Amino acid sequence: DKGNHRHFMEKEIYEQPEIISHALGYYVDFATQTIKANGSTIDFATVSSLAISACGTAFLSGLVGKYWFERYARLPVEIDVASEFRYREMPLLPTQAALFISQSGETADTLASLRYCKENGLKIGAVVNVKESTIAREADTIYPILAGPEIGVASTKAFTCQLAVLAALSIKAGRQRGTIDAAQERELVHHLIEMPRVMSRVLNLIQPQIEALSRDLSKYKDVLYLGRGTSYPLALEGALKLKEISYIHAEGYAAGELKHGPIALIDENMPVIVIAPYDRFYEKTVSNMQEVAARGGKIIFITDEKGAAASKLPTMATIVLPDVDEVIAPMIFSLPIQLLAYHTAVFMGTDVDQPRNLAKSVTVE
Ligand code: F6R
Repeated sequence: DKGNHRHFMEKEIYEQPEIISHALGYYVDFATQTIKANGSTIDFATVSSLAISACGTAFLSGLVGKYWFERYARLPVEIDVASEFRYREMPLLPTQAALFISQSGETADTLASLRYCKENGLKIGAVVNVKESTIAREADTIYPILAGPEIGVASTKAFTCQLAVLAALSIKAGRQRGTIDAAQERELVHHLIEMPRVMSRVLNLIQPQIEALSRDLSKYKDVLYLGRGTSYPLALEGALKLKEISYIHAEGYAAGELKHGPIALIDENMPVIVIAPYDRFYEKTVSNMQEVAARGGKIIFITDEKGAAASKLPTMATIVLPDVDEVIAPMIFSLPIQLLAYHTAVFMGTDVDQPRNLAKSVTVE
């Protein structure tokens, strides 16, 4: 049931605040502002490193997770798309743990990667939406994302729920490894608890502007997304979402890679969408944005209030989100990229919930 939404995708975008709040209930003890253990059999304190494998959007949530596990838990993370991971014959040690992220829990390559790690004696965690799935069954520990059924082929709420779960796990890992203290945990958890409220506010705030902007975006053939830090995987996700449902050719790049190739493409026919909250990467990303502007590129700037105030560069549009803590920024900044892809696809008249050539669950290689 789509309720009063035109598409399942739209419904799933708008139910994120409520769903994430529910998912957080499983991972967070609201009274003490700590992360619950929930019977996890992975003891991050004794793990030597973490391997993560997944496909598509699930891979990109894992890429954000890598930044968190390395930063908050000082735990090295090796991550690869499952179709490569399964065949790389990478040397693994039983002291490592592995996480497999999958909405459906049935993706063939992800399952094969899981089995490879299991044969090598690693502890296996499954970050899944479908708890009865094969990936869930074969794991030692299940970390449910609790997103509820996701009908739209383009993943939205599963992505932000994966992010919320990975954020919680990285904080837990940080506590177990002693790299963050109890006060830091309370502070980070406090931000997670606030997140659903911020998401609701953002969805209402940006909707009219994004819808208008999408009408313009639908006239272009190519789009480039740029970001640094955790905004880099978001740039990849923004590009993936846009190409999947609007069929506009889109690419995501780490902002620092601009001058190593893609800058050759910059002209007035290819909008560049820059994701840059006012974090420790902001200045660097803005200098890349400057390079785009200097070559006549059109910029769509997705930033926060401080970021908007600190840049004087002319843009095609600036989408201003509230200032939020770094730990929740990836979930908050997911909202404009989802809405931008959604409304652009609606203007293009594509089959938003059932894009051509795509399947919701990919059970063959
Ligand atoms: C993108 C999308 C796909 C899936 C990928 C993995 O919007 O939906 O890229 O993320 O096929 O699927 P799961 O998570 O079921 O393993």
